[in-house]
Amino acid sequence: MKILVTGGLGFIGSHTVVELQNEGFEVVVIDNLSNSSEDVLKGIEAITGKKPLFEKLDLRDKAAVQDFFKKHADVNGVIHFAASKAVGESVGNPLLYYENNISALVYILQELEKKENANFIFSSSCTVYGQAKTMPINEGSEVQPAMSPYGNTKQIGEEIITDVAKVSGINAILLRYFNPIGAHPSAEIGELPLGIPQNLVPFITQTGIGLRKELLVYGNDYPTPDGTCIRDYIHVVDLAKAHVVALQRLLNKKNQDKVETFNLGTGVGSSVLEVINAFEKVSGKKLAYRIVDRREGDVTLAYADTTKANDVLGWKTQSTLEQAMESAWKWEQKIRS
Ligand code: WQD
Repeated sequence: MKILVTGGLGFIGSHTVVELQNEGFEVVVIDNLSNSSEDVLKGIEAITGKKPLFEKLDLRDKAAVQDFFKKHADVNGVIHFAASKAVGESVGNPLLYYENNISALVYILQELEKKENANFIFSSSCTVYGQAKTMPINEGSEVQPAMSPYGNTKQIGEEIITDVAKVSGINAILLRYFNPIGAHPSAEIGELPLGIPQNLVPFITQTGIGLRKELLVYGNDYPTPDGTCIRDYIHVVDLAKAHVVALQRLLNKKNQDKVETFNLGTGVGSSVLEVINAFEKVSGKKLAYRIVDRREGDVTLAYADTTKANDVLGWKTQSTLEQAMESAWKWEQKIRS
């Protein structure tokens, strides 16, 4: 079984490649290295003993995508991570996001629809829910108008896949991630820090290691117990394992619809201050932080109703917030050593 993982040298992609190899799949990775490094292949091999096939390729190059699928005609399934994913950047540069996140998806689907049967796992995001009206958030929660071009590309992507699956042999699973954090416990792979981190956890670990002066906490005047925003922080290894379970569901034809959607989270909401406390507990360090104004576009609350993922997909998270923070801290220390 050869599986294509696009964006397979990225944060979630690389952890998923490890779990696929652990399950005996042959993996071919496509990555344009715009937000990753070929060194990640060594990290994957250090963990599994197997180096995945790798093709440096930009999925916006339609001819290159066509050539790839001619060369790898035996690909049975595709897990599609490759996309630009910085919410703030997408506001300032929407066309980069529409070109990269939509064209690439269309070119891949055009190749898959030529096959009698194709299995497609799509990296989506809880961002499609915006500020959901009820908590926890289930898959039937209303998809709200996107608050950024990035979020819009996820919503449009889901709609494109749904339309194509209706008229082709493509079976798809849309995975809506909550907040992925942490790193592989071996510290051989993790979130590659390119530039100033937009997300909370890499900013915390970089502050902890002394790379950043202090963490700015974006607001403590939200209607939550401690005033800071609440999110569902999910260990990236748990998230990676969910992709393998979803792929096997399609390969074994267990899916109940041509397109299925699952929220992937822990079901537990944690505030920014609780994440900081978890870091301080696992690192033994006091974190320097300052409360500042709210960040534009942040929702107050987002955590998953995990019932469908647990009962239908047959997957649930194993790691706690502290274990995830411990792995993030171990990774930060490793890459700065
Ligand atoms: C979490 C909380 C911030 C940084 C984003 C994307 C989402 C997904 C995950 C791709 C918020 C606070 C953060 C900082 C802070 N990405 N924070 N200081 O915004 O929930 O989700 O990343 O799919 O699509 O929207 O994650 O880590 O940026 O923020 O106080 O320096 O931490 O206000 O409450 P977010 P985040």
